[in-house]
Amino acid sequence: MTWLVTGGAGYIGAHVVRALLDAGEQVVVVDDLSSGLRRKVPDQVVLVEADVRDRDALARALATHRVEGVVHLAAKKAVAESVAQPMQYYRENVDGVLSLVEAMTDAGVSRIVFSSSAAVYGSPDTDFVREETPTIPMSPYGGTKLVGEWAIRDATTAYGLTAIALRYFNVAGAGAADLGDTGANNLIPMVLRAYSNGQRPQVFGADYSTADGSCIRDYIHVADLADAHVIAAQRLASETTPWSVYNIGRGVGSSVFEVMDSVGAAIGEPLNPEVVQRRAGDPARIVASAEAARAGLGWSATRDLDDMVTSAWSAWQQYPPS
Ligand code: WQD
Repeated sequence: MTWLVTGGAGYIGAHVVRALLDAGEQVVVVDDLSSGLRRKVPDQVVLVEADVRDRDALARALATHRVEGVVHLAAKKAVAESVAQPMQYYRENVDGVLSLVEAMTDAGVSRIVFSSSAAVYGSPDTDFVREETPTIPMSPYGGTKLVGEWAIRDATTAYGLTAIALRYFNVAGAGAADLGDTGANNLIPMVLRAYSNGQRPQVFGADYSTADGSCIRDYIHVADLADAHVIAAQRLASETTPWSVYNIGRGVGSSVFEVMDSVGAAIGEPLNPEVVQRRAGDPARIVASAEAARAGLGWSATRDLDDMVTSAWSAWQQYPPS
């Protein structure tokens, strides 16, 4: 089958593209390269440079390349930035879903895997978040992902689409040295950037109600996440349930201090992090129950935190951010 991957030149998207190719699928990428990198798109893959909100460009790409399914990742995803620029986030992330779904109906394409987020849960009052846990986003970013889910769910009813939403927890690591996360917004690249600049990495608050006082997250290796997309995409061909949602996490919580210790061990020296003020909007703990994805997709993570950290550090050394 031919899949159109929006955001396929980005950190996560590039891993999904390679995993689909490795699984024998054909791929076309749509990316506006606003944050993605052309070098991350394999030579044999057609790259359509377009904004995911351009319905006509999307419909043309779907028809021209005889696309049979879509994996939609293109979106802005910085939680703090979404608080400062909420309308930009709703305009890009929600309009992107609406334009894509309309283009799919224009082109008669009915299968979609949607990149959603644990951010839809906000600050859940449960140790292990299930898909039925109330969705009460704390950030505009989380809000855009929840609205995107609603729009796609309603499109399955109205237009006969079949869709699977994957709620990513904290994505980290590198499946290949040239695919590392060099973004500015997530813990591990921020720690590696601080270390590379000879600065102390910062812990955003050590007074949370957790064992060591720092926030706890469920880190998931980007290669495991990419595998989940392949399984979900291939499942759509036989899926009889129009709309499904799965948490993509490990069901294991790691604190910020524990991540810092793992990075220090990978680098070979302690990081001596500096504790600073809390960051607005950070829940103390959010960890997935990964049971539904195991039972429903037959998917479970195979890599642990040290795999994420060592692969991230290796990629950072070989392909340092420009
Ligand atoms: C993790 C923890 C920070 C940097 C992520 C993604 C978001 C979405 C949900 C996919 C927090 C702390 C960070 C630093 C720190 N994922 N931290 N010092 O906020 O959990 O959100 O998951 O859709 O896209 O961003 O991830 O990596 O920003 O922070 O102490 O220098 O690390 O406070 O507790 P977050 P993060």
